[in-house]
Amino acid sequence: MRLSAVVGGLLAISIAATVAVIGTTVVLSRHEAAVAARLDTYRNDLQQLIAVQDTLARARAVSPDVYALVAATAERIGASYTEERERLAHARLNELRSAAAQFAARATLRAEGPPGVDTTAQLRLRTLAAITAIARLQETATAEQAAAHGRLSTFLLVAGLGLCLVLAVTGIAAHRLILRPIRRLAAAPDPERLLVARNRRRLPVVELEQILQRIVTLAAAQREEDRRSRELVEQLPVGIVETAPDGRILTANPAWRRLYGFGADEDLAGVNVMALHTDPAVRARRVADLLAGRPVGRVEQPMRRRDGSTFWCEMHASAVADPAGGPIRIRGVHIDVSDRRQLEAQLHQSQKLEALGQLTGGIAHDFNNLLTVMLGSAETLADALGHDPELRSIAETAMQAAQRGAELTASLLAFARKQPLAPKPTDLNALLARTQSLLRRSLGEQIEIRLVLRDGVWPAMVDPAQLESAVLNLCVNARDAMPRGGRLTIETANVVFDTEDAAREQEVAPGDYAMIAVSDTGIGMTPEVLARAVEPFFSTKEQGRGTGLGLSMVWGFVKQSRGHLRICSERGHGTTVTLYLPRVAADDQAAATAPAAAPRGGSETILLVEDDPLVREHVAGQLGALGYRVLRAADGPEALALLERERGIDLLFTDVVMPGGLNGRDLADLARARQPGLRVLFTSGYAEDAIVHHGRLDPGVLLLNKPYRRDELASRVRAALDGD
Ligand SMILES: Nc1ncnc2c1ncn2[C@@H]1O[C@H](COP(=O)(O)OP(=O)(O)OP(=O)(O)O)[C@@H](O)[C@H]1O
Ligand SMILES: [Mg+2]
Repeated sequence: MRLSAVVGGLLAISIAATVAVIGTTVVLSRHEAAVAARLDTYRNDLQQLIAVQDTLARARAVSPDVYALVAATAERIGASYTEERERLAHARLNELRSAAAQFAARATLRAEGPPGVDTTAQLRLRTLAAITAIARLQETATAEQAAAHGRLSTFLLVAGLGLCLVLAVTGIAAHRLILRPIRRLAAAPDPERLLVARNRRRLPVVELEQILQRIVTLAAAQREEDRRSRELVEQLPVGIVETAPDGRILTANPAWRRLYGFGADEDLAGVNVMALHTDPAVRARRVADLLAGRPVGRVEQPMRRRDGSTFWCEMHASAVADPAGGPIRIRGVHIDVSDRRQLEAQLHQSQKLEALGQLTGGIAHDFNNLLTVMLGSAETLADALGHDPELRSIAETAMQAAQRGAELTASLLAFARKQPLAPKPTDLNALLARTQSLLRRSLGEQIEIRLVLRDGVWPAMVDPAQLESAVLNLCVNARDAMPRGGRLTIETANVVFDTEDAAREQEVAPGDYAMIAVSDTGIGMTPEVLARAVEPFFSTKEQGRGTGLGLSMVWGFVKQSRGHLRICSERGHGTTVTLYLPRVAADDQAAATAPAAAPRGGSETILLVEDDPLVREHVAGQLGALGYRVLRAADGPEALALLERERGIDLLFTDVVMPGGLNGRDLADLARARQPGLRVLFTSGYAEDAIVHHGRLDPGVLLLNKPYRRDELASRVRAALDGD
């Protein structure tokens, strides 16, 4: 009975031990699988990194060598890393397994052998307990069944206890030496470091990780750089396009799409740049050049937009090899330079007008001298021939011709920006309201006149008489452009030119301007006519109808007034001519205007300084006839000498432009220094900087414009002498 209970107990223990062993094995293999799975994840991570690196190396054709090197290194590192991890993990597991086996073997050995050999107290105690139990069992068995059952039960008891001990010790050892480390290994965030720490030696794993980390950082930086480069190309204001050599578009940035009128998301696959060239043959030649290694740099040519309109395009192109080994591509940079070319044309035009102005100004100056003589002489002749109507009418004809000549030279001087102006603050609306009735009379019934005069238009600093004549000129042009009638609109407004506007328009200073715009609904101008409209003597009107000086005068007057003129015209759609006149500055004062004086003579002494002998004699004769005593000088030094010698000179009447180093202004200053209070009257064929600054007479300066009639001479000399 007792024996069977013992056997049953032993059997139960054996079964429990077997279950424990199986359980331990199962737990062990589960943790082993967890470690293997983590190692797998690491391997996958590594492969992904290598894949990223590969893509980068391909994409970054810019530095293929560096990338190839990095990729190869990463691959090598990856391979050794994986092997190292696996080798280490397996080696460690095997070590652990064999350690456990050895321990189990040793424990079995010790349990069977003499107890004195034990090394651990626990083992010794358990072994002693077992031996005691075996002895007690032996005694009991001997006492109860001395014979056959005794040996068997002893054997079974010893074996059972031994097995029990072995299993218990094995279980504890397995838990401490295998299960616990493996659990820690599996749960650790980084099993490799744990292995390293336990092995107490530095493995290359840490360095490998650092290198991989650097590769990841590098890849991220590269991706960021790629993104920035793409963004830059997208945002560039110039068009960038890549095409196949046959012209098929491969890629184009948004600026290029805008330039040619394509939508931001439109598919360009079917578009060929050949179709956008106004001359596809030129492009074909260029591409041939590019493929032969001759780059195209900064050529300008007209290109066609999608809607058919054309623009001037500055192009740069180069042939680029595909890094992936594909066919060569043509990369082009396209810039719209239409505005710049237009500005250049404007500049060219104004330079031409400038040169023409200088030429005409010079000629007009000399002509004025001659006309002064002719006009005065004819006038004297007409007076003297009062008794002979036939001869008198001849003299009058000569006078009229000279007068017309004088008007013509005045127009030329206006164009040359050399007409003497007397600018003063002028209310444009009031001036236009005054001219209105004159306009209605001269333009006829067929033309409807509309005035759009805005309130609060700034006063402009201009010569009102000249402005009136400029507006009349524009209205006459408008009338001529509307032979079958139409509408003429005159508009005023305030306009501010900022620095940007000024940069766009040639020769406009930034600032405030009062504007007058004259628009018609007439025939308009072709671009060719528009380009030349301001040139003097350019007219499309039949011979005898137009001199071609109208717009030239307006242009010269506006420029001289420091304003700006703009003509917009389209064939069949009418014309608008806009005058921008400078707003009166706060510190501006009205320019002195010469008061009208009664044309009478006197007996004072006048020092006449004139370099042209013909004019000098003529004017001296006229002044003498008015009762004055006249002293003559040909230039400044001679005049100064006379001033030294002669007493009682009342008026210095001098030309402005003179040879001999002294101009009229210098002479007047020197003369006044010697004789303070000396009256001075200037005369000139055109306004010079000496007395006219920025198109405006200096305050207090009296000027008689050449050519002049006798009455004008008389009244101006009198006014100068009377000193008002
Ligand atoms: N409002 C307009 N509409 C159409 N064409 C114009 C207009 N104004 C000027 N033009 C063109 O510019 C040319 C030059 O004009 P401009 O006023 O200088 O001379 P003109 O009118 O021909 O002669 P002038 O004014 O000396 O009598 C004109 O012949 C005409 O072809
Ligand atoms: Mg005209």
